[in-house]
Amino acid sequence: MISPHGADALDPRIVSKNEDRKALLAEANTLPSIVLNSAAAANAVMLGAGYFTPLKGFMNLADAMSVASDMRTIDGLFWPVPVLNLCESIDTIDGATRIALRDPNVDGNPVLAVMDVTSIEKVSDEQLDAMTAQVFGTMDSSHPGVAVFRSLGRYCIAGDIHVLNFSYFGEEFAGTFKTAGEIRDEISARGWEKVVAFQTRNPMHLAHEELCRMAKDRLHADGIVIHMLLGRLKEGDIPASVRDACIRKMVDVYFPENSVMVNGYGFDMLYAGPREALLHAVFRQNMGATHLIVGRDHAGVGSYYGPFDAQAIFESLPEGALEIEIFAADHTAWSKKLNRVVMMSEAENHAPEDYVFLSGTKVREMLGQGIAPPPEFSRPEVAQILMDYYQLEDRKAAVGE
Ligand code: ADX
Repeated sequence: MISPHGADALDPRIVSKNEDRKALLAEANTLPSIVLNSAAAANAVMLGAGYFTPLKGFMNLADAMSVASDMRTIDGLFWPVPVLNLCESIDTIDGATRIALRDPNVDGNPVLAVMDVTSIEKVSDEQLDAMTAQVFGTMDSSHPGVAVFRSLGRYCIAGDIHVLNFSYFGEEFAGTFKTAGEIRDEISARGWEKVVAFQTRNPMHLAHEELCRMAKDRLHADGIVIHMLLGRLKEGDIPASVRDACIRKMVDVYFPENSVMVNGYGFDMLYAGPREALLHAVFRQNMGATHLIVGRDHAGVGSYYGPFDAQAIFESLPEGALEIEIFAADHTAWSKKLNRVVMMSEAENHAPEDYVFLSGTKVREMLGQGIAPPPEFSRPEVAQILMDYYQLEDRKAAVGE
């Protein structure tokens, strides 16, 4: 099986033995603590679940700046996005070397992890600007990822962490949330060697489904891991539980048995386009995938990135930066001439009107009105789940809930 990124073995930061966890929790309750922001909590969950191997904790400013500018830590490890614990105030922990990190996303803010603090540094305006521009490619505060990143606080708390739990992901998405190690184990148990991962934050429509099929067939892969984001999204995106139901239905009905695994990971969407695509590749290598599908506007938002920038960035990487490879896909859509989903660059003599295109807004409108998008766009079973969701949302809005 493919090696984890930059290491021979995964290094999940979760404390897995019951008695060790109990002892650490008891200690944590005596330590000075801070409540993390959601982005830092998501980083802790990814570290805990082994997805961020070989990192052991949060970066200091020198590593973060180096990662933002050169995609390498000071020690030379390839890493595309700073993994930070930024915080607005350090009043409760000033001078402490071991602290408890509390979970902002669970009632009562229980301890999520214990951290060995190696440094607390102040991030200057220039440093924050440089990291924003390098990671997101824009400083525009209407970019949802930029807005979040710049609001997290100016204290950079660095050090290794020991993770106690997987926040709300384990319970809320039981059966879907998986650690990198669990996915590796399942890949081995199924006897898969060539494994293609599909990143998604959406319910899957026909174009997504066919993209997975094309990737598997063309790569002669043994299986597909649909690996959905379960963390925070921007306003208007569809909640993970609804997406999960759509994807599971689609896989059950339309894919042969033992060809697809459906899982998810606990991370907040960054909308960082090309840089996020690289991070996606790093943690899919860690979960045992040999290939990652990168299609049109991967991890993008609005028109901040070119449709294929997230593919181009892989071409610019130095040899050996990553072992996982990408399946670079062109825009896929239903061809009315050929009666199937095609990659548009491969369809000869097609004009734009020969494809079925529906904008996200149009699809949302239709679903809200209980109108299923055409079968050339959406599987009827998937459309039904989405119609139920949108109609419920509309009813809630009508009664002011
Ligand atoms: S993402 O932010 O998680 O990338 P989304 O769930 O929409 O968003 O996309 C998942 C993957 O499918 C990405 O690799 C994206 O590039 C690809 N993709 C989505 N729609 C299309 C399409 N019509 N044609 C080609 N690739 C697509």
